[in-house]
Amino acid sequence: MSQLLTPPAADLSALETLALDVARACGRLIVDQRPGDLGVAATKTSLTDVVTIMDQRSEALARELLTQARPEDGFHGEESSRVPSRSGLTWVVDPIDGTVNYLYDIPAYAVSVAAVVGDPAVPGGWEPVAAAVVDPVAEEAHVAHRGGGARLLSPAGERALGIREGTELGAALLGTGFGYEARVRADQGQVIAAVLPEVRDIRRRGSAALDLCWVADGRLDAYFERGLHEWDLAGGWLVVTEAGGVVRGLAGAHLADPFTIAGPTGLVDRLDALLERVATPR
Ligand code: IPD
Ligand code: CA
Repeated sequence: MSQLLTPPAADLSALETLALDVARACGRLIVDQRPGDLGVAATKTSLTDVVTIMDQRSEALARELLTQARPEDGFHGEESSRVPSRSGLTWVVDPIDGTVNYLYDIPAYAVSVAAVVGDPAVPGGWEPVAAAVVDPVAEEAHVAHRGGGARLLSPAGERALGIREGTELGAALLGTGFGYEARVRADQGQVIAAVLPEVRDIRRRGSAALDLCWVADGRLDAYFERGLHEWDLAGGWLVVTEAGGVVRGLAGAHLADPFTIAGPTGLVDRLDALLERVATPR
C-alpha cells in the first residue's frame, strides 16, 4: 500500500494487549472445552468449508469481550454478522484459523484478533494497526502494533522478530494453503506443480494466520496463497510487516488482489516473478 491509513487517536500498544487478552481467552476456550465428539455444525462455500460449534463459541466470546472493552469499535468476524464502527476502528477476528485441523484434533490452529482502520469489507480499503495471533496448543502468541515491531511470546520467553533478507528462491521453504472451492483448488494444484521444482520445499500447515506468523519468525522463508479472507490475513499481515517483511498481491498489486505473497522483499519479488509466469489469470 502506498499510503498508510491513519488510525483514530488510540494507544496502539493497549490495542495489542487487548487483542492478546481476547485471543488468549478464545484459545483457552477452544482447547479446554473442545467436545470429544466434535462434529461439523454447518458448511459454508462447499462441503469442505466447515464450521464447528467451537468456531461459533470462540467468535461469540471474542465479540463479547471486545464490545465490553471498546463499545464504539466495529466487529468483522468469520462466523457472525458485522457491526459497523463508530470509532474508526474495527476488530477483525478469525475465531479458529485452521478449523479443519481443529476438527481432526491436529494441533495446528490459531485465534487471530486484529484492530484495523478502514472498512474490512472493502477490498484494499483497510489495514491492521494492532494484532495478536495465538496458537493455544503451543502456548505461543505473535503480537504486533504499527510502529512497535513484532514479538513472539512463548513459554521460553519473549523475542523481537526480524525477517532476514537474502534467501534465494531455490533455497526457500515456502508455506501455502488451498481454498475450499474445487475450481480454485484445481488452479492451485497447477501452481504448486510449477513452483515445487523451483524451491527448497513447500509446507501446507492448514492455518494461514500461523503461516504468516511463521514467515515473521523464520520458520518459513515466504508464503503465498490465493483467495484469503480478511480474517485469515489481518493479524498475520501486521506481524509480517512489523517484523520487516512485505505482504502484497501479485505484480506489486495491493492485497485486494486474489494472491497474497509474504516474506522478505527480495524473495517476495522472486516468488512473484515465478507466480506471474505460472498462475492462472483471475
Ligand atoms: C483456512 C486456513 C487455511 C487456508 C484457507 C483458509 P479456516 O481458514 O487458513 O490454511 O488455506 O484459505 O480459509 O477455514 O480454517 O478458518
Ligand atoms: Ca481462517
